[in-house]
Amino acid sequence: MLQCHDQLSRNSLKSFTMYSQQTIVLTLAFVLISGGTLKTADHGTGKAPQHIHISYGDLPSQMIITWSTPNKTDLSSVHYGRELLHLVNVEEGSSHIFVDGGTEKRSQYIHRVDLKGLTGNTTYYYKVRSEESESGAFYFRTMPEGQDWSPRLAVFGDMGATNAQSLPRLELDAAKGMYDAVIHVGDFAYDLSKDNGKIGDQFMQEIQSLAASVPYMTCVGNHENSYNFSNYRARFNMPNDNGKMYYSFNMGPVHFVSISTEFLYFPDYGFTQIYEQYDWLKKDLMEANQPENRSKRPWIVTFGHRPMYCSNNDNDDCTSNESLVRVGVPLLRILSLEDLYYQQGVDLSIWAHEHSYERLWPVYNLKVRNGSYESPYTNPGGITHIITGSAGCSERHEYFQKNPPPWSAYHSSDYGYTRMTFANKTHLYVEQVSDDKNGEIIDSFTLIKEQHGPYGDLNNRV
Ligand SMILES: [Fe+2]
Repeated sequence: MLQCHDQLSRNSLKSFTMYSQQTIVLTLAFVLISGGTLKTADHGTGKAPQHIHISYGDLPSQMIITWSTPNKTDLSSVHYGRELLHLVNVEEGSSHIFVDGGTEKRSQYIHRVDLKGLTGNTTYYYKVRSEESESGAFYFRTMPEGQDWSPRLAVFGDMGATNAQSLPRLELDAAKGMYDAVIHVGDFAYDLSKDNGKIGDQFMQEIQSLAASVPYMTCVGNHENSYNFSNYRARFNMPNDNGKMYYSFNMGPVHFVSISTEFLYFPDYGFTQIYEQYDWLKKDLMEANQPENRSKRPWIVTFGHRPMYCSNNDNDDCTSNESLVRVGVPLLRILSLEDLYYQQGVDLSIWAHEHSYERLWPVYNLKVRNGSYESPYTNPGGITHIITGSAGCSERHEYFQKNPPPWSAYHSSDYGYTRMTFANKTHLYVEQVSDDKNGEIIDSFTLIKEQHGPYGDLNNRV
């Protein structure tokens, strides 16, 4: 089995030979400024910041900065500003102890600072400080205000500390300013809790140069299940989440919704959270569908780890026609996500869990609902799904049935990730990058919605 650093070095080398000299210079600048190679002075105190990452805050003018120190510090602060050499603003936050549930009961301190009142569409430089130890400098760009801009995202799931094959290419893309945000659709590190959390620590450090500079938005996967998902809850801070593991946020013309599919599969952690999430989700989607909201942000995009549908040749629940995520309680269709998404007019559902990429035709209740034969993704009558869980992990690839169902439009087992650009309120462009094929785009489509809204309403109008 390849060790991650060997793998990363090999892929970095492969990537470097592909890209232009300009890109290499850009990347070096990105890594240097983003602190990737800067050693933080620790002096054996265990107080040097590590695992630094950012996510969008509760408001567009906010950014959440999260990091970890092995030992307790008296200070959690971020120094930031619009010029690298003049970090004139200081914001203080807080920290709390996190104790892993493994036999060693390893502890660390998770620090959180909420930057507020940031100006939109602006680059900020920052350093984090825990007492006398200070990180290298990083930078991020805030999202533009309003809805009339085009969010660009990288989306993937199932990336491990070992064999994170797509990570160097994602870093190169980010260095070129290709993304406003990243979405990691569950399953981190394999696992965050493994070896008393040491594998989680390794993973958080590996993603730092990417996640400290581009908002790293997440949902939980099955690999985070140990000790009631405690490593995930502790290490990631998401907007308006408060440890619930479901939340929503807005980017330009898009309303994103992140859910936990895992409540359904780990009921020993409690039944009530299944109902609470569903109730919250229904209210959130209904609010997003209020005419004044849907006209401003017509795109509704959900992401959760385990798919409703998949055509892989394994025995995962998504290969069943009655997957729990899709139908809720089988036969009764109580807590059916598909029915809820259909009624609320979800445009795109993103999933992972399968270590592969699959694009579905627009679908509802196992039936293809293409817009037309010639233009299947123009004004479709059902939800469009993609499954993108091939970023790379120790469990390697997953493959497909020889005769996939009719709703399966395209699949690939290559390692890679998905890019998407919401061009405007009607056009969403999606493409799949194969890392195995040196960054080749192996699939792409444009979802066109001239009208957004509940599919029942739209179909009745036809
Ligand atoms: Fe998974």
